[in-house]
Amino acid sequence: MAHYMIKGGTSLVGEVEIAGAKNAALPIIAASVMTNETVIIDNVPDVSDIRALLDAIRSIGAYVEKINRHSFKINGSAINRQTAVDNEYVRKIRGSYYLIGALLGKYRLATVALPGGCDIGLRPIDQHLKGFRALGADVRFVPPGMARAEAERLVGSHIYMDVVSVGATCNIMLASSMAEGLTIIENAAKEPHVVDLANFLNSMGARIKGAGTDVIRINGVDRLHGTEYSIIPDQIEAGTFMMAAAATKGDVTIRNVIPKHLESISAKLLEVGCQISEEDDAVRVAAAKRLGRTTVKTLPYPGFPTDMQPQMTVLLGLSNGTSIVTESIFESRFKYTDELTKMGAQIRVEGNTAIIEGVDSYSAAYVKAPDLRAGAALVIAAMAAEGFSEISDIHYIERGYEDFTEKLKKLGAQIDRVETENDKRNFKFRVS
Ligand code: UD1
Repeated sequence: MAHYMIKGGTSLVGEVEIAGAKNAALPIIAASVMTNETVIIDNVPDVSDIRALLDAIRSIGAYVEKINRHSFKINGSAINRQTAVDNEYVRKIRGSYYLIGALLGKYRLATVALPGGCDIGLRPIDQHLKGFRALGADVRFVPPGMARAEAERLVGSHIYMDVVSVGATCNIMLASSMAEGLTIIENAAKEPHVVDLANFLNSMGARIKGAGTDVIRINGVDRLHGTEYSIIPDQIEAGTFMMAAAATKGDVTIRNVIPKHLESISAKLLEVGCQISEEDDAVRVAAAKRLGRTTVKTLPYPGFPTDMQPQMTVLLGLSNGTSIVTESIFESRFKYTDELTKMGAQIRVEGNTAIIEGVDSYSAAYVKAPDLRAGAALVIAAMAAEGFSEISDIHYIERGYEDFTEKLKKLGAQIDRVETENDKRNFKFRVS
């Protein structure tokens, strides 16, 4: 099993290029099979969750051609509507549930293995199912662990979401794009990837208005056509590098970003004393001195993203004073703090709140990545700590960060992906 070996204590300095957004690419790839014409998607991140979804659409008969590392030609005309989407990888990724909405919209039938994803709390899909049912689908669970959605007719409907859900908003948008008549989603999620999916579907001939606001209106169409589309930059990858720059007292320019998507993160970094400057498609984060305390509460977009909560907590663990972080989206998203405590952090978790007493420095340790974002946060902690740390279970991190170690190395981090004892010895020899 591969690990990361990290020798911390070096400030990150330089420039880093951000990949396409994983959480936009997942629904967009699912949407790409809704037409029988060819779709070309650019700026697709090369991460394991995306590879798993591409394999999943191949397994039901879609043609997937890799044009280059980040561009794919997809044609869904040969999909067999009866084929169930299922393999061990489909069950591991969360984004596979977008195939329910996409296939239900196109074929009025979808049988898809129920999603996995990171263990950050109960992750129900009741709002997705409520939406499909409102459109007239019969949705039931069938063994082994599959969701089967079927409709003779899909008819537009007025749907009130009980919680703001990115996944449910995207999934209902997918199915209703090809329903009859008007669908209105109220209390919709406003995340940049919801907007990106709507733009992609519209480029295929869908008629979606209001994405990025609370109310999305979708006029169903009979057919969608081919398109060429480039996915937006990954807000969370960018935010992770912003936190890494701040926690290592570095100076990093993060390129290929949409600064507007990063505003809630930039605002918190400014509050604790970082210097931030923005260009059209870049953000520079510099931190020269010890940072200050703050309070953070995760909220749906445009609030502070839950996917940045662990990285922010790592930063506040090194800041001066007592900080409070409240997680309001996922109930078990503080499990990683046990690992961070091994590195000397002083954090007390009470319910959905973490009370963080800033320490001067972290100490190196052997820690386990508990999920994707917390795994990345532990890498930041290890880069800020003096000495050698080792991080296991990095397959979580590789689900969502393309070339993570290579990008960090270019910024001066001493980090290697190691597989054998020999690799570890070589790393220690090289960086000592
Ligand atoms: C997506 C992102 C994930 C991010 C999250 C919140 C993907 C693949 N994942 O996850 O990285 O952390 O948005 O920004 O895009 N909920 C329900 N019922 C439902 C659906 C959700 O109660 O049917 C609840 C969830 O338990 C959670 C909240 O709604 O408390 C938000 O979840 P949601 O936005 O759906 O997250 P995901 O789409 O799973």
